[in-house]
Amino acid sequence: MYHPQVGDPLEALDTPSMIVDIALMEENIVRLMQRFREKRVHVRPHLKTVKSPELARLLLAAGAIGGCVAKVSEAEVMAQGGIEDLLITTEVVGKPKLLRLVDLVRQHPRIKVVVDSLAGAQALDQAMSAAQVEVNVLIDLNVGQNRCGVLPGEEALMLAQQLSKMSNIHLVGVQGYEGHLQHIHDPEERGRRCQQAMQALTETAAQLRAKGFPIEIVTTGGTGTAEICANCAEITEVQPGSFVFMDTDYRNALGPAYANALTILSTVISKPTPTRAVVDAGLKSLSIESGMPEPKGLTGIAYQPGGDEHGILTWSMSAASALTPLEIGDRIEFIPSHIDTTINLHDTYYAHRNGRLEAIWPVTARGKVQ
Ligand SMILES: Cc1ncc(COP(=O)(O)O)c(C=O)c1O
Repeated sequence: MYHPQVGDPLEALDTPSMIVDIALMEENIVRLMQRFREKRVHVRPHLKTVKSPELARLLLAAGAIGGCVAKVSEAEVMAQGGIEDLLITTEVVGKPKLLRLVDLVRQHPRIKVVVDSLAGAQALDQAMSAAQVEVNVLIDLNVGQNRCGVLPGEEALMLAQQLSKMSNIHLVGVQGYEGHLQHIHDPEERGRRCQQAMQALTETAAQLRAKGFPIEIVTTGGTGTAEICANCAEITEVQPGSFVFMDTDYRNALGPAYANALTILSTVISKPTPTRAVVDAGLKSLSIESGMPEPKGLTGIAYQPGGDEHGILTWSMSAASALTPLEIGDRIEFIPSHIDTTINLHDTYYAHRNGRLEAIWPVTARGKVQ
């Protein structure tokens, strides 16, 4: 059986395969790091996108101070892969997860976690105390996304006071992620609303400090907003993730700020009519909740899923694409519409430079949703 190896040409890969244009990925990383170095704000990339310790190490080598993860199980993978300074950006609730977290923090004390309730914090403190382990926490603020988080101001102050009475958890910062603003197309509106969110976040950080709480970390921002966030002097770090590879949803909102560096390579397996072809990439290879993936370099050809394993391509005879009709056996790259959920469908990154494999990285945290 063929096993892809570094040095092989892309033509040797079976499909569907997740492929990365390393040169474009490197440019994205360098560009982002450069922007934040100029602004003197730390970058703690959200590793929920890449789900790979190898890629996390590349980000650290490029200047990241650590990483964010969404789940304890992702933190386990990253810590095992040598990433020590991790922030778990989702509230950790429930005994099974708390026991895992205790084990993890015992071995990796630089792991931090967010809290947004007295009940959640008490359970965390009890689990940590029972095991004689201590953990640093950040208060998660709702700055408008209306997902998790306490309200800025009074609610946050009250929670901070409650946390200060607990023995094994220590408040070190605040998180206020404005996920609802990431994909706003109008840069003026995105900027204005993001500044409002940052005001709520930084005012609360200042109020907490004024009451004597040691707020060292003020963390926020995704690919769509991080630069706006970083213009606020009090923001200490930003958490973008998607910029590494991008997707069509972000490209449509942000323009060419970063390049689409990841595609799903597929093969035309059937061409039942002159204007319809079928590829071997369906819902199990490409996510569609943020729109349809785009066939790279093919204008006038539309993709729709044809089930779990099939994708249907259609075009009109009058379209320019009819001049270069697809044939059975042709290989097509698709740019995902939502990068995180597409990566989570694949086992392996096949990374190439100019069409020749340069690295093969497992998606080690694939499926790590607990
Ligand atoms: C808390 C948090 N921070 C940062 C990010 C990174 O955002 P993006 O991948 O859009 O850059 C996310 C993404 O969902 C998130 O949930």
